[in-house]
Amino acid sequence: MRKPIIAGNWKMFKTRDEALYFILKVSTAMPDLEKVDTAVIASAPLLRDLVKRQGDNLRIGAQNLYFEDEGAFTGEISGALLKSYNVTYVVIGHSERRHIFHETDQEVNKKVHAALRHDLTPIVCVGELLEERESSKTEEVLRTQVLAAYEGLSEEQALKTVVAYEPVWAIGTGRTATSEVANEACGFVLRLLADKYSQRVADQIRIQYGGSVKPENVDELLACEHIDGALIGGASLDPDKFIKMAKAALKRV
Ligand code: 13P
Repeated sequence: MRKPIIAGNWKMFKTRDEALYFILKVSTAMPDLEKVDTAVIASAPLLRDLVKRQGDNLRIGAQNLYFEDEGAFTGEISGALLKSYNVTYVVIGHSERRHIFHETDQEVNKKVHAALRHDLTPIVCVGELLEERESSKTEEVLRTQVLAAYEGLSEEQALKTVVAYEPVWAIGTGRTATSEVANEACGFVLRLLADKYSQRVADQIRIQYGGSVKPENVDELLACEHIDGALIGGASLDPDKFIKMAKAALKRV
């Protein structure tokens, strides 16, 4: 059985004081690390304070990294720097990075390699736009994104990754994918990984669903066969809601 993983992606929300308030409330209320992995994915300047207060059962992640290890890249953040702050996860290829900042599949791939080089766990985001779903291109888009992201990764490296399936039309819209739609897409990602590697490898890679997850729908989503967790935006900003959703994952154990 794959261990559930619940992560809150704060995006560009929370000041330092707000982040400290959250972490003090949440870090001691997380489920046992043996049963559920939980993480807060925060803006880079918050990472140090959050790691210091992460407690025993919560881990901290970054929202992006640059694929070079160092150099004249003003404004970018290296995997080595993130690692030196004891960050555990890094979200790569989030739809906002792909669509607002025009990040390409090739850059996503280089970033996944960079994360693994620095012993960070990449959360690799994939997902289709509304027009792609409506023109029956979901599987084609997922195939392209997943195969590009995992290009050149060995089995051993692939096993260190997490995938987040986030349909773009469900992000921040309140329009959650039905559990059937989400489960089917996550199952498809699993098949892509099984074809590329093996069923044994695919069976060990966890796949999160993301897109308008909230306490009211998390149980139904987590009950799905191919959904191993959630990557939560808006609803993760509220400590009480985040605690509820992290604890909901215990029902999957
Ligand atoms: P929402 O939960 O706000 O829809 O955001 C999802 C997301 O993008 C998480 O990475």
